[in-house]
Amino acid sequence: MVKGILKISPINKILISKYSLIAFFLTLLLFFSLFLKAESFAVATRHYLATDIGMKVLEEGGNAIDAAVAIAFALAVVNPSAGNLGGGGFMLIHLSDTDETLSIDYRERAPQKSFEKMFQDDLGNVIKGLSLNSILASGVPGTVSGMFYAADNFGTIDIKSLIQPSIDLAKNGFVLSDFQAKNLNKYKIKFSKNKESKEIFTRPNGFSGGEILIQQNLSRTLERIAQNGKEEFYSGDTAKKISNFFQINGGYLSLEDLNQYELRILSPVCGSYRDYKICSMAPPSSGGIALVQILNILENFELKEFDHNSERYLKTLISVMDYAYKDRAKHLGDPDFFDVPQDLLTSKKYAKDIYQQIQEKKLPSKANVTIVEGEETTHFSIIDKWGNAVSNTYTLNTAYGSGIIPTGTGILMNNEMDDFSSKPGYPNAYGLIGSEANKIQPKKTPLSSMSPVIIFQDEKPFLITGSPGGSTIITSVLQEIINVLDFQMSLEESSKKSRIHFQHLPDILFHEQFDESLIESLKKEKKLLNRKIGEIHSILLKDGGIEAFSDERRPDGKASSVYK
Ligand code: GLY
Repeated sequence: MVKGILKISPINKILISKYSLIAFFLTLLLFFSLFLKAESFAVATRHYLATDIGMKVLEEGGNAIDAAVAIAFALAVVNPSAGNLGGGGFMLIHLSDTDETLSIDYRERAPQKSFEKMFQDDLGNVIKGLSLNSILASGVPGTVSGMFYAADNFGTIDIKSLIQPSIDLAKNGFVLSDFQAKNLNKYKIKFSKNKESKEIFTRPNGFSGGEILIQQNLSRTLERIAQNGKEEFYSGDTAKKISNFFQINGGYLSLEDLNQYELRILSPVCGSYRDYKICSMAPPSSGGIALVQILNILENFELKEFDHNSERYLKTLISVMDYAYKDRAKHLGDPDFFDVPQDLLTSKKYAKDIYQQIQEKKLPSKANVTIVEGEETTHFSIIDKWGNAVSNTYTLNTAYGSGIIPTGTGILMNNEMDDFSSKPGYPNAYGLIGSEANKIQPKKTPLSSMSPVIIFQDEKPFLITGSPGGSTIITSVLQEIINVLDFQMSLEESSKKSRIHFQHLPDILFHEQFDESLIESLKKEKKLLNRKIGEIHSILLKDGGIEAFSDERRPDGKASSVYK
């Protein structure tokens, strides 16, 4: 045979054509599977209208960051208890092109006139309510700055068109659900203390589900922001309306504070848990460090061999939470003002030491404090067809923030100053105590529990998750992670599992529904308080598929995904 020429027998010809046919179909299959993957995207948020807006952005070719900006502005209108222009938050972004994960800290900063004892009387007693419901309660808001930064640096669509849906919703109104109507009615007293809040958010006989809520001033503010950019909020008409109002009413927040607001781009805190990589927010959030610390400790246990939500399982979680929240109170604060021992707290060695102490049944000591008010924050998760992911949690702090709207703006202001430690050892609205690390200082950022998370498997986003819930954010997200990673639950299964929360102080175990016998047994060691914990909005990218789920602990949420 001459080299290079292959003689093919008739039988080989049949075989070759058969194999080529198979190869052809396999190529076709591969092409379609790539195509399928390319067309998967999802959104999960607290409100169905915001989810629909985000999905439309993705369907029309926008990326996850475009969708996040449109959703954040929309939630400021349709979810006024937590969605905001007058607050702040954290956005965790994964960019698929560069495989980079970064975070935007657009949380509130303390006004320059604020000082350590601003919420204490002459005798050094903390004046109840001052950090929550007064003109002094607000930090300098960062949301508008955060959204413009995200859109300018990572978005692909003109921000005006991303803000337009929220302008329309504020101008034309949206239908209040029964839940929202009741929630507004619940805070009537708070709204009644401010003229504009009273006009917008109260009705003489209360709201009813099905009513349309119109927010004219907010729509005008949003229009001006769309037109004039973020300067409108930080130095333009809106800035002047806000700062004048604060000045007239004895507040500290000034035009200079707004002019000087600066967000921070932070490297996320990342760690490993079994075969996964977990990334979340660095300080001023306590979430990233606490989650990595807790997961490092739990890695020493064969969790999947425990019965899920059994007594042994819950007691293990309680001990681990106990250690992590004690460290939170002692070591965490704004890293620009306080040296946070991040490397120590997130090291596997430190976790191993705590694991040993738990095995020896040594636990941190306790005192008792109470939790004053409920929590209100909101999270959304997004993945686009290119694999860019956004995990965003933002807030006004407690429901509707301080309840104060600077006249003519329609903007509810945050009460984030309460997230500082008003006095060492004095509990905030979540019963969290703080120390030197989190004392009030001008321009400082209050410590947060907000924990937007992206978990990676083989360097690709696997689980995008987060939750509202003040101090319970970290433990809600933790249980979602363990349910999905260790117990292989779907998002829906995971959300239906009861959760617990324990935060070292107060010495109370918060819990959802469990068997009476289990409750009796837990009662022997802890004071118990039954309440809902977390309201998670997650996306799971598993086995080539996509699942998006909005927790049903509260109504109105919606998760949508496209897989075609
Ligand atoms: N305001 C709640 C938090 O940031 O954790």
